Amino acid sequence: MSERKKLRLDYNNMMEEFVGEHGIRAAELEKLAPKFPAAAKAMKDKRSKGGMDWRDLPHNQSDVVKDILSYAAKMKEEVEYFVVLGIGGSALGPMAVHQALLHPFYNDLPREKRGPKLYIVDNVDPERLINLFQIVDINKALFNVVSKSGSTSETMSQFMIVKEMLEKAIGKEAAKERIVATTDHKVGNLIKIAAEEGYKTFIIPSGVGGRFSQLSPVGLLPAAICGIDIEELLAGAAYMDELCNVDDVWKNPAYAYAALNYAALSKGANICVMMPYADRLKFISDWYVQLWAESLGKRVDNEGNVVNIGPTPIKALGATDQHAQVQLFVEGPFDKLVVFIGVDEFHDDIEIPRIFAEMPNIGFLGGHSHGSLLKAEQMATEFALMKNGKMNMTITLPKVTPHTLGQLLYFFEVATGFMGELMNINAFDQPGVEEGKNATYALMGRPGYEEKKKELDLRPAKKDEYVV
Ligand code: PA5
Repeated sequence: MSERKKLRLDYNNMMEEFVGEHGIRAAELEKLAPKFPAAAKAMKDKRSKGGMDWRDLPHNQSDVVKDILSYAAKMKEEVEYFVVLGIGGSALGPMAVHQALLHPFYNDLPREKRGPKLYIVDNVDPERLINLFQIVDINKALFNVVSKSGSTSETMSQFMIVKEMLEKAIGKEAAKERIVATTDHKVGNLIKIAAEEGYKTFIIPSGVGGRFSQLSPVGLLPAAICGIDIEELLAGAAYMDELCNVDDVWKNPAYAYAALNYAALSKGANICVMMPYADRLKFISDWYVQLWAESLGKRVDNEGNVVNIGPTPIKALGATDQHAQVQLFVEGPFDKLVVFIGVDEFHDDIEIPRIFAEMPNIGFLGGHSHGSLLKAEQMATEFALMKNGKMNMTITLPKVTPHTLGQLLYFFEVATGFMGELMNINAFDQPGVEEGKNATYALMGRPGYEEKKKELDLRPAKKDEYVV
């Protein structure tokens, strides 16, 4: 793999030398340095003891990939629609990967240029499914119900509605061929239902949590159905694994990224803006926001001390958000670091015609391309931030391909794990999310949640005087 194909991390503008007093000082990094070997060791130990099974996904799925590819090859000819029912880690990864690697108007392409139309339903807004079935002909659809726990209310309720509708439409037996489950091998209801009904099932390995599951069948099946090269995606991740298999923080891109985020957090910059300059990467920010927030926002540290800690990730898109949030990023408080993701090469580019030469204020654009304008805007925002003393760094992909995207996903996952170690918190649990899930179960009458319901009933009554 040539250097050219590798993503790059440029962190010059994180440093005091470039952004001045609000940047990171060499002395500050030296002070943090003793934490780095311990965090690197913890990463290694966790991996070797099976505490980070998601790290092995690029290497241990050859049979799974074969199964996915043969199932996808068959089903993509049989159906016109592929509908993912899932939420959180079961939806954001597929959305990000499809946006990055498929035609931006994929569903509108003629059939010979695409696989089945793809819909990802990640909410229980009552209008969502009703509206979906005004577009999707249920007789020609395949439904992928994705839930690691097999019990998430949003996903399971969608599944229950779809199952009944499908059975009514095409009959009980035929419906079994139109539902594919992606879930844990033994936890939860979905695996039991799938076994009873005889649904085709793909397994999410035990040690792979929702937000770290994009490179498991959670992401691979929807990608393969739409014709994305999943072997290349995994090869990119495997390549990044090789680059991240280095203990020296400054030679390991993911560790360096996390160390800089940690240094910024330690200085009070607790907001991290993810700002790609490519429409293809727009939903990478959504996926990243979940990964970073759910992994790193924690009440207690590894010793059980209450710390209420965590960087707040925010999503933005260049150049669109230059006309929305960038004013705040450039001139507002010194509580942020901005991460740009740029590309060296776009898949296509379009030239701006050399017209309006008599109007120099717009005529100067003629002869340039949209790609070069977008890159200039990225550089200009980087400059404005630097000039105003605001920390920023840039990740560059040579081009958005399955290989570089696999690198990027894996890079952020390793960075999240390392950041968790530096922060001395567990990046792989989500008690705050579970609390909300349990309260929902209690409110909706799930057996076994009677105590939780009592707790909810005892919450302070709201006062009318605070309602206007
Ligand atoms: O990262 C996580 O664990 C969560 O965001 C889950 O992906 C989300 O809650 C959905 O859970 P499940 O896959 O169990 O339905």
